[in-house]
Parts: sequence; structure tokens; C-alpha cells
Amino acid sequence: MKTQVAIIGAGPSGLLLGQLLHRCGIDNVILERRSPDYVLSRIRAGVLEHGTVALLREAGVAEHMEREGHIHDGFSIFVNGERTRIDLKGLSGTSIMVYGQTEVTRDLMKARKTKGASSIYEVDQVKLHDIASDHPSVTYVKDGQQQTLECDYIAGCDGFHGPSRQAIPRDRIREFERTYPFGWLGLMADTHPVEHELIYINHPRGFALCSQRSLTRSRYYLQVPQGEKVENWSDDRFWDELKNRLAPDVAAKLETGPSLEKSIAPLHSFVAEPMQYGNLFLLGDAAHIVPPTGAKGLNLAASDVYALYHLLRKAYLDKQPEALQRYSEICLRRVWKAERFTWWMTSVLHRFDHDPFSQRLQETEAAYTLGSVAARTCIAENYVGLPLERID
Ligand code: APR
Ligand code: PHB
Repeated sequence: MKTQVAIIGAGPSGLLLGQLLHRCGIDNVILERRSPDYVLSRIRAGVLEHGTVALLREAGVAEHMEREGHIHDGFSIFVNGERTRIDLKGLSGTSIMVYGQTEVTRDLMKARKTKGASSIYEVDQVKLHDIASDHPSVTYVKDGQQQTLECDYIAGCDGFHGPSRQAIPRDRIREFERTYPFGWLGLMADTHPVEHELIYINHPRGFALCSQRSLTRSRYYLQVPQGEKVENWSDDRFWDELKNRLAPDVAAKLETGPSLEKSIAPLHSFVAEPMQYGNLFLLGDAAHIVPPTGAKGLNLAASDVYALYHLLRKAYLDKQPEALQRYSEICLRRVWKAERFTWWMTSVLHRFDHDPFSQRLQETEAAYTLGSVAARTCIAENYVGLPLERID
């Protein structure tokens, strides 16, 4: 089989890139290890930056989001019981869209199916070949048969553990990493969200987050120590601990109910540089990971897609393949700003085993940034999403 762009992975990165390329006539095939149902069973964040929303519109997959998503003009941060509202709209002029990432993936899968574009699910042993040459290819096994997909370019959209980043010679890639000594225990429930807007909480017992998927579905998180087991957390224990970390007037409004899902996710910051080698390009989690504080994962993946999509248009439609050389440097400028912001939010909002001096510094960082209009403006402009670079 032959295509122009071989896309490995049908997460948000691969599906969105495939959809945009398909609409401008650039042929592509998506290879995915899992089944569509498995891909849709993963629960991820639910905050879309305005740039991501614009890209989903450009991809022609915004209809369900416009109907079911909710625009939020702000969110709250509590530190030691004291609330500060970050007025996103007032400070940055823009808002965010609260819409589940699982829904984004579902909308993209549907659009791809309608268009009849080629997606091959449940493939095994995906291997990349000749990525530094003009004739790269991908081999894989489907239903026990080995297959070859020849292509011009490979888009590695296969997440943190996928084969694409591993295909780059070790001496041609540099990795930057930070781990955090805690995880997030998440719970989803069909209950009314405790407030209309999201709430981030730094409490002496640890971080908590009140988020939502719709007016009747809530998503809550608690900071838990590294290595904690989800089996140790009954629903009752979760709700009791969440109430402990909420201000009394907020806790009084909390509606509890049986969990639909409960899981623990570690926190991790990671960047691989450069994000390209030969005719292979890395996008989304294949190239970088951010901790979930600030919900940048999907949004950062979308900005990689935006860059590669525009550069591939240049390569194919304007006959300027050399434009693709700029991919990594364009992406990394924005990636590192999101790494900085999510590291900062994580540092300020969680409880660490700090020495007394570091603890005072954290309290002062919070007091200063939440008390200053200039600093709140900086939080707001990062939260709604820094501008996407124009590519011309
Ligand atoms: N062969 C084929 N597909 C693979 C392989 C492989 N060997 N390994 C992984 N994949 C697939 C995974 O099954 C998954 O569906 O690649 C996809 C990667 O998807 P995500 O992990 O969601 O990564 P990405 O699309 O970059 O997502 C960006 O959205 O899903 C969130 O946490 C993610 O916030 C991040 C953002
Ligand atoms: C979520 O809704 O799951 C969510 C929202 C905001 C975050 C992280 C996760 O910062």
C-alpha cells in the first residue's frame, strides 16, 4: 500500500492531523494498535483553548462541540481557603471551551468514517523504516499478515510509549524530564458540578480540582502520594477527602454519587528535542508530556498538528518541501512555554514535602501572583492558550 503521509496512532493528534490533511486532498493512512472502543474508553482532560476550538472548526468537526460544549470565562483558585477568581475573559479577552477530550476523539473518528478515509485499527508490530531517506515506510501486522505502507512522510502520533520516538537514533535526540512525588486520583460521576466554573485548590491536605464534562457530569481530582492504589479509595472516602479540601461554603454545595470511573495518573514533564528526524515528525505525547495542571496535553498536541498541517500544505500544495525543516523549532517554542506554565501551576498548587523556607516561598509565590493584576493576566493568557505562530 502507498500513501503520502503515514500516521501512526489514532489519538487526538493522529485523527486531527488526518482530518485536516484529508480536507485539503493530502492522502493519509492511520495505523492504530487498539480498537476504536478502547481508544474511546480513555478518560482525559476537558478544557479546550480557543486556538484548539478554531482548529476543530477548520477541520469541520465542531458541530457537536458548539452544541454541547460550555464556554467558561474564568475559574477559581483557592489557597488555604481563600478564593481568587481568574477572570479569563476580562484579563485576556478570550475564554475556554469545556468539552471532553473523549468527545473530541469521537467527533474526529466519526468524521473520518464518513469521509471514507483509511484507518487501520488493531495493528501489531508497527515498525518504521528508512526514515532518513526519501522513501520511508512502515510495516505492521494485521490479522496475522505482515503489510508494508510506503509513504513520503511519517507522522508519529503514537503517544509516549509508541515506536516513533524510539526509531530516532539515540545520539540524534535529547530528552528533558521531571517527575513529581505524587499523582492525581480522578473520579467521574453523574452529579451536578459543584460550581459553574472550575476550581483549583491548594489545601494543607493536598491539591484538589473540581472540573466537569457537562451540566450533569462532574470530574474531580485529589492529590495522592506516589504509589497510592486506587483500591484504597472507596467512593465515600473520596467524597469525604474532597469535602475536607474544599472551603466550607463550597463543600456544602457538593453533590455526591456513585463513581462512573476512578483512576490514578502520575504527573510527569517530558520533552524530546528535536521533534523531527529525516522524514519522521513527532506530534503530541510522542514528543512531550505535561502534568495535567492547566489541561495543556490535548491543546499542545493540537498546536503541533496545526504546525505540521500548514507545513505539509506548503510541501505539497506550494511545492516547498524545505519548509518542513522548520517544524521542530516552531513547535518547541510553544511546547516549552506550556511546560513552564504547567510546571508552575503544579509547583504552586500542590503540597510538597518542603523544607520551611521552600514552603514560605510557595506561599509567597501564590500570594504575589494571585494578588497582582499583572501576574493574574499572565496566568489568564497562558490558561486560554498562547497564540499559534503564523506559518507563511
Ligand atoms: N502502533 C500503533 N498505534 C500505537 C502504538 C503502536 N505501536 N503505540 C501507541 N499507539 C496509539 C495508542 O494506542 C493511542 O491511541 O497511539 C495513540 C496515541 O494517542 P494519545 O496517547 O492520546 O496521544 P496523542 O494523540 O498525542 O494525545 C495528545 O491527548 O490523549 C491525550 O494525553 C494525551 O493529552 C494528550 C493529548
Ligand atoms: C479535567 O476536566 O479532567 C481537567 C480539567 C482541568 C485540568 C485538568 C483536568 O487542569
